[in-house]
Amino acid sequence: MEKNNQWPRHGGQAAALLARFGLPLDHPFEDFSANLNPLGPPGWVPAWIERHVTELTRYPDVDYAEARAAIAAYHGVDVEQVLVTNGGGEAIFLAAGLCAGGRAGIVTPTFNEYARALAGVGAEVREISLTDPLDGLDAVFLCRPNNPDGGLLALAEVEALLARAASADCRLIVDEAFIDLTAHEDAGALPARLAAHSNLILLRSMTKFYTLPGLRLGYALASARTVTALASRQPPWSVNQLAAGLVVPLLADSDFAERTHAWLLAERPRMQQALESRGLEVVPGNTCFFLLRPTLEAREQGFDAEVLLERLLRGGILARHTHGFAGLDGRWLRLALRDERANNRLLKVLDDCLR
Ligand SMILES: Cc1ncc(COP(=O)(O)O)c(C=O)c1O
Repeated sequence: MEKNNQWPRHGGQAAALLARFGLPLDHPFEDFSANLNPLGPPGWVPAWIERHVTELTRYPDVDYAEARAAIAAYHGVDVEQVLVTNGGGEAIFLAAGLCAGGRAGIVTPTFNEYARALAGVGAEVREISLTDPLDGLDAVFLCRPNNPDGGLLALAEVEALLARAASADCRLIVDEAFIDLTAHEDAGALPARLAAHSNLILLRSMTKFYTLPGLRLGYALASARTVTALASRQPPWSVNQLAAGLVVPLLADSDFAERTHAWLLAERPRMQQALESRGLEVVPGNTCFFLLRPTLEAREQGFDAEVLLERLLRGGILARHTHGFAGLDGRWLRLALRDERANNRLLKVLDDCLR
């Protein structure tokens, strides 16, 4: 097996990394490899699930009418413009299905599931930059904010890309999985642009903001016609009854949203500054994770991202490697932003690693 294949494909897959570095499976660590809201899930969720668990004896509403209505109202779009999905992940695979047998561009480096989804439907994939021509492409995938660097493409640049895509008869598929965990005034602006741009598809995840990755919940927003096309490829009852039922109360929990934004506004700049002040090269970003690496000087002395990854894990911090992100190839690490206590623990371990 090629060494590269031994790297786990996603964050949160600790066992493979522990084995790689010869550490026991019960080695204690804090997980900074998956990007989840540290405040969640909202405290009422376990009791809600207990109260509704008997609903598992029924099939969900195959149209998810209540959940779709709540999402539509939340974003000010029509119900016909909403498709509820089994996580943002399913939304990615359904959107890729629209490119079956065609050609799609992916703005890289980015999340590796777009390429996998496109390969699965026989689409030809082109890794592109924002300035590349779009001729001959059926769709472009853009992650905003981008995983793994957290960069948020400015609204004006998204508009320009949308216009170029429209003239090339190309869809723009924007994965906004982390948009609710983004501290920028432009963050929530794209749903309102759907009315003017029938070539725009937005993909959302509810698992990261509400810390429910095991539940699986997400949605796609697009023109009614595109939603019908996406829905035609979705298995029936793809979203389970409990996940669908949670959409209404989750979106109504404005207190949780406010507390999350307060955490993000306080912890993100504090940690950015703390990481930079330790001499790390940190990519400027806008969301709940950091892409970083040791300085050039340290790297020249052999202290690269992989050495840092191993030292952090030995010290009890699981970071995310970047093998599998085209163009990064393991030369950077991604660290989640967590709560103040966990972040302080990270800083302490980092101090030991960097000494
Ligand atoms: C950029 C991006 N989009 C989508 C997803 C999928 O999220 P979900 O758990 O909602 O399927 C992830 C998960 O890591 C992600 O990083």
